Amino acid sequence: MPKLTNQTIQLLSELAFSAQAKSYSPYSKFKVGAALITDGEQLFSGCNVENASYPLGQCAESSAISAMINGGGSRIKEILIASPNDDFCAPCGGCRQKIREFADGNTLVHLVTKHGKVKTVTISELLPLAFTEQDTKKLS
Ligand code: THU
Repeated sequence: MPKLTNQTIQLLSELAFSAQAKSYSPYSKFKVGAALITDGEQLFSGCNVENASYPLGQCAESSAISAMINGGGSRIKEILIASPNDDFCAPCGGCRQKIREFADGNTLVHLVTKHGKVKTVTISELLPLAFTEQDTKKLS
């Protein structure tokens, strides 16, 4: 892996684990953090925020994307998801679609375990044959 990407992983890891520590997850007790870097090199992070009405909970990736939009960013260059355990925490289906909205197919998604093991995949590997903005233009 190129050195620059390793440095990015290090930086995003610190932000994601710091966000994970703030996770509001009293129902699942499953704390997740996410951090991303935009094409303009802005950094944003977020954690999962649950609710007594369970389906209203928000994933960490979604929180990081909200922070990016609120902070004036628009394109995700790389995103990292910090797991609370020794397994990788891959984004849920809904979050794959949310990431893809602001990413190219080859945007990197780094999955990091509690002890720092890293697996890097592209968003296209996680969400092949994605339905994107271009598809909404094809009306017939
Ligand atoms: N969760 C995330 O925040 N990101 C993921 O990638 C997977 C799941 C959250 C949702 C819920 O608050 C908790 O983890 C358990 O599903």
